[in-house]
Amino acid sequence: MQVQRVAIMPAALTPRGRPAIGRDIMTAQKPGDPLTINRLYGRAKGKPLRAGQQDLIDTLLPQIAVPADGPVTAQALFGRDCPMHFEIGFGGGEHMAFRADMLPDHGFIGAEPFLNGVAQALVHVDGGRRSDGIAPNAPIRNVRIHHGDALEVLERIADGTLSFVYLLHPDPWPKSRHIKRRMMNDGPVSLIARKLKPGGEFRFGTDHAIYLRHALMVMRRHRDDFEWLAKSPADFQNRPSGWPETRYEAKARNVYGHEVWYMKFRRR
Ligand SMILES: C[S@@+](CC[C@H](N)C(=O)[O-])C[C@H]1O[C@@H](n2cnc3c(N)ncnc32)[C@H](O)[C@@H]1O
Repeated sequence: MQVQRVAIMPAALTPRGRPAIGRDIMTAQKPGDPLTINRLYGRAKGKPLRAGQQDLIDTLLPQIAVPADGPVTAQALFGRDCPMHFEIGFGGGEHMAFRADMLPDHGFIGAEPFLNGVAQALVHVDGGRRSDGIAPNAPIRNVRIHHGDALEVLERIADGTLSFVYLLHPDPWPKSRHIKRRMMNDGPVSLIARKLKPGGEFRFGTDHAIYLRHALMVMRRHRDDFEWLAKSPADFQNRPSGWPETRYEAKARNVYGHEVWYMKFRRR
């Protein structure tokens, strides 16, 4: 796939309405569903990385990167058959690292195009090593990372083999003309359905009310594939156990005063 980096004007706004000064936007297009699949939008890079983060990008990432081609299977990535989890846009990797640490016998694949997010995730995978070289936690060995578009890797996973897919706080793209950029759309949701095994779980979280409504509409169209597991509002208004808060989510709650909704869908 061809990835073009296009410098955007300083006046451009991020999805949250903040200026996107000094950021790149990535666009990648290839034949496919014009409504949403095979497209990558958003920032690729932020502040310069700290020396320790750059070191992890140079040394640890090549060891745990998803191979650039070939099938993406548990055997190929983790050297054994094990339940596989896939996180779309892991941000700083807090959720992925928590889950992988909690389930050491499972394999976790995360994809994130934002380099600074990948670097933060590597810090977690490396046991949280500080600048003095001391790591307070053991390294996490069951994580593989793709620095790029999640859908590219998802397409390479064999159908019906994932146990969990996570899509947490996807970029909201709140303007109606950008709806097709949302990850929660028919193309990606069909792909997620295809890759999950029967009984597998798709977890979706958002603090964005417009996105929530949009997501519920999309998921209604996919009710032959997915059963929404909520039995009462408490099931999606309260954080489920085993679903840790990310830094992004903490900010949404504590700084912006947003509510957060947690949705679990079971693959039929
Ligand atoms: C609002 S952030 C949320 C990050 C994280 N999930 C969390 O809850 O903290 C959305 C993330 O999705 C990533 N993203 C956007 N498009 C993506 C794509 N096609 N594949 C993978 N990640 C993507 C962005 O780079 C960004 O880090």
